[in-house]
Amino acid sequence: MSFIKLSPARNVSIALITAPLIIPTIYMAFLTYNISRSTKSSKGIQYPKGSPQPLTQRHPQNVIPGKPASLPDDVRSEDSDWVLAYERVASVPVPLRSLALSPTSTISCSPSPLLRAYTSGAHVAFSSTPQAILIRFLVDTETRRTFEASWIQNLQFEPGDVVNGAYKVSYCGQGNEAGSERIELMIQAPPSYKGPVPNGLILSEVVLIEGAPAGSLPGDSAGDDHVVFINETWMWRKESEKPTLIESKVSGWMHSLMAGWLIKKGISTVSL
Ligand SMILES: *[C@@H]1O[C@H](CO)[C@@H](O)[C@H](O)[C@H]1NC(C)=O
Repeated sequence: MSFIKLSPARNVSIALITAPLIIPTIYMAFLTYNISRSTKSSKGIQYPKGSPQPLTQRHPQNVIPGKPASLPDDVRSEDSDWVLAYERVASVPVPLRSLALSPTSTISCSPSPLLRAYTSGAHVAFSSTPQAILIRFLVDTETRRTFEASWIQNLQFEPGDVVNGAYKVSYCGQGNEAGSERIELMIQAPPSYKGPVPNGLILSEVVLIEGAPAGSLPGDSAGDDHVVFINETWMWRKESEKPTLIESKVSGWMHSLMAGWLIKKGISTVSL
């Protein structure tokens, strides 16, 4: 008569109790592995000149990517007194022939079909995350429409367009690299929302790599055109303010995982 020996019924109940923990853990581990194989992330922080925490101490290996076009002038400037943090997540190069849409646009500041569909695919996926559900809950009914898949899919992503309540298109056009095209979205408070709003912007970018040389890309024939899909987040604050979401270890890791997942969702929207 041992109570210690686990009966089958007990095993089942233990399984039932632990399943809700184990399944998400396995899923998370799988997701993390999968995302880390198909995307790379890099991040950095730029402190004001004369700050006790210069960039070189915290992130020796990082070089800040070109700054976004819609970064406010006082944040962009060399002698800015803002702490500027970024996180960049980029996909591995995807063969152009595996994509359903073209990365070239004929009208200026009208995103190409590829960039538009990639961005809207990622934003539709984002609209079902806990973060988006929370924002949606806090905004007025008019703004709630901007979370709907039909709204996001119909959006042209031209300056002024609002998506997922808190993101407003502030720039579209060429990025910092040759062959790149991007959409920048500023984080802004939706009307009627009174809570604190972080200073930040997100951007989605596609970079066309024409005729990759032999051996430069894994698993594809030489000479094929490829596209790299990028998601960057930029946030800035005063030095006295608490670190932004992407600066802290845990939330920063969660955020880059989410960005990697969104990139994959975006790519699946535009793939053949
Ligand atoms: C980039 O990440 C943000 C979250 O920081 C998300 O809202 C957005 O949909 C993502 N965009 C792309 C194109 O991955």
